[in-house]
Amino acid sequence: MGLFTLEGQHVVIVGGSSGIGLATAHLAQQLGAMVTLVGRNPERLQWAAAELGGVRSAIADAADEAAIHRALADLPPIHHVYVAAGSFVGGDVLTGEMATFRRAIDTRVWGAVHVVRAAVPKMSGAGSLIFTGGLSSDRPVAGAWATAVSTAAAEQLARALALELAPIRVNAIAPGWTETPMWNDILGSDKQAMFGQVATQVPVKRLSTAADVAQAVIFLMTSPTVTGEVVHVDGGHRLV
Ligand SMILES: NC(=O)c1ccc[n+]([C@@H]2O[C@H](COP(=O)([O-])OP(=O)(O)OC[C@H]3O[C@@H](n4cnc5c(N)ncnc54)[C@H](OP(=O)(O)O)[C@@H]3O)[C@@H](O)[C@H]2O)c1
Repeated sequence: MGLFTLEGQHVVIVGGSSGIGLATAHLAQQLGAMVTLVGRNPERLQWAAAELGGVRSAIADAADEAAIHRALADLPPIHHVYVAAGSFVGGDVLTGEMATFRRAIDTRVWGAVHVVRAAVPKMSGAGSLIFTGGLSSDRPVAGAWATAVSTAAAEQLARALALELAPIRVNAIAPGWTETPMWNDILGSDKQAMFGQVATQVPVKRLSTAADVAQAVIFLMTSPTVTGEVVHVDGGHRLV
């Protein structure tokens, strides 16, 4: 058995049809895992499942507790879960839409709680859960307070549940700027200019790829004594 193996293990990725979640699914599969993808958009999910081949998929919105329970109900025993569901949510606290702000927290924080409650009974007291935080927990950006609050909460949820759910391990991944489809709609035609500007700022002089972040998610799945940890994959952005 190799050092990094997921042979014979079942990995569930909520938010697995794009970006970091999809890259994690690819890597997990290469390491021998059975993979289940969960996401909202059926076409996206179908496309991702076809890209990977040989995976299960289930449609559910992480923010919808009943839908998450339905999606996970018929799955075989689960070994690892990565909750990637979420997005960058902008909006000034005084003028932004309350529904948009609530949605950010409903997805990333309540979504993670819904997944925990549906998945843990299928985990036989071992394995790991990974939530998604982000750079903005440490470096909030004006006009994106809901992202900062929800990512910080997801990271704290990992620390708190690492105690409560032990010996199941619970960790968080905190990506910095990462080149994924998430930015296509948010930045539109400004995307390449923004990426270029960020690349000049960060110590490693480039953005992360989805595969860079996925590698760290796999590290968290396969490291038997790492729990309550937040792994930052941000090219050193927090330091500058
Ligand atoms: N890219 C970055 O620079 C960056 C930086 C820091 C943190 N992050 C975080 O990392 C995570 C992955 O981001 P990404 O860049 O890989 O984004 P992405 O390419 O947009 O992928 C997001 C995935 O999550 C799914 N998803 C979104 N909301 C969901 C919901 N409510 N319920 C179920 N599935 C949902 C999406 O599919 P559907 O839309 O079809 O559901 C998709 O599969 C997100 O939480 C994001 O906020 C990203």
